[in-house]
Amino acid sequence: MNQYKIAWLPGDGVGVEVMEATRLCLDALKFNAEYVHGDIGWEFWCKEGESFPQRTIDVLKHCDAALFGAITSKPVKDAERELVPELQGKGLVYRSPIVRMRQMFDLYTCLRPCRAYPGNPLNFKEGIDLVIFRENTEGLYAGVEFSPVPGELKEVLTRLSKPFAHFADLPGDEYAITCKINSRHGCERIIRAAFEYAKKFNYPKVTVIHKANVVRATEGMFLEIAKRVAKDYPGIQMDDANVDAICMWLLKNPKSYGVLVATNLFGDIISDLSAQMVGGLGFGCSGNIGEKLAVFEPSHGSAPKYAGQYKVNPIATILAAKMMLEWLGEKAMAERLEAATAAVIAAGAVRTYDMGGSATTIEMAEAIAREV
Ligand SMILES: NC(=O)c1ccc[n+]([C@@H]2O[C@H](COP(=O)([O-])OP(=O)(O)OC[C@H]3O[C@@H](n4cnc5c(N)ncnc54)[C@H](O)[C@@H]3O)[C@@H](O)[C@H]2O)c1
Repeated sequence: MNQYKIAWLPGDGVGVEVMEATRLCLDALKFNAEYVHGDIGWEFWCKEGESFPQRTIDVLKHCDAALFGAITSKPVKDAERELVPELQGKGLVYRSPIVRMRQMFDLYTCLRPCRAYPGNPLNFKEGIDLVIFRENTEGLYAGVEFSPVPGELKEVLTRLSKPFAHFADLPGDEYAITCKINSRHGCERIIRAAFEYAKKFNYPKVTVIHKANVVRATEGMFLEIAKRVAKDYPGIQMDDANVDAICMWLLKNPKSYGVLVATNLFGDIISDLSAQMVGGLGFGCSGNIGEKLAVFEPSHGSAPKYAGQYKVNPIATILAAKMMLEWLGEKAMAERLEAATAAVIAAGAVRTYDMGGSATTIEMAEAIAREV
């Protein structure tokens, strides 16, 4: 087996604990890897004014994949207050390292599988198997925002956009603008990624989620491109739904869906809805995937309330590690890790607090490692 180089980014709070637990499972699999630690998160923001230091970016440039725990993020003003005194007043502005990582390495696919493992007391319904493809670098998260709105922009919008007339007389600090930017290239590659996945893993249908009737320029383009791409996959059915409607349909008939694809914000929302149906934050895992690098993580944050207690569920991170193995091409190992996790869930003897039990983070990982 190849020896892989894995960037190991525990981050803050419970991120450190779930990563330690996940390592027990990777070691039980005898996954042949060199783990290279990377500093990331709040501690480095406070000490250095940089939550994602250049040395960590360099680690990522030379790794096959990365596993990431969780970080703490705070609003800009609180972030400035927590800087060491010598860095305060220097104009440093906190920006989420995760969003930066996605944009810097063009990790354009956010892949979120949500599977209801039999016996999980937190399942909303049995048999749910959803896979969400969320565009990860564009849309409302592109970061093109104006608050206050500068005069030049106001002038251009007054000239070019009729609906803008409602706002034209307001002073620039009485409103704010966030631009939703989608490129044809960005839409096409995420839609294609969803169809390719459906083809590879035998899902009969891809559901395209949008709001093309109201957000016409960008969402209309997304739907139009999806219809064109779907023609290249004659064996796979395409259907589409408005984002608001799909929230109702997913809750009502989750088993009618498999692969879903959406632009950034809608994908973010649908991903959390779907994760909650299969156990919530202790089970939600995701992959941020580009052409050259992929970073896998649980979808929860640093859960400061539980930090240092080894209490939270490591399954989300263990399933993120399973996704990493799959992406690296280690299919057999990925299957063993998932089967071991499913077996421990089904047996029900070891459960963390969220599942109604009292096992620690490490006890849950040890049970899965034994099963491996
Ligand atoms: N990807 C990330 O690193 C990420 C994601 C979300 C939030 N955050 C950051 O994390 C910090 C805390 O945010 P938050 O409290 O809103 O969200 P959170 O996801 O950290 O935790 C919210 C609650 O969910 C539960 N929870 C979280 N992970 C769990 C697990 N593995 N097992 C069982 N229960 C679990 C706990 O009750 C916890 O208090 C903030 O600074 C936030 O910005 C980071």
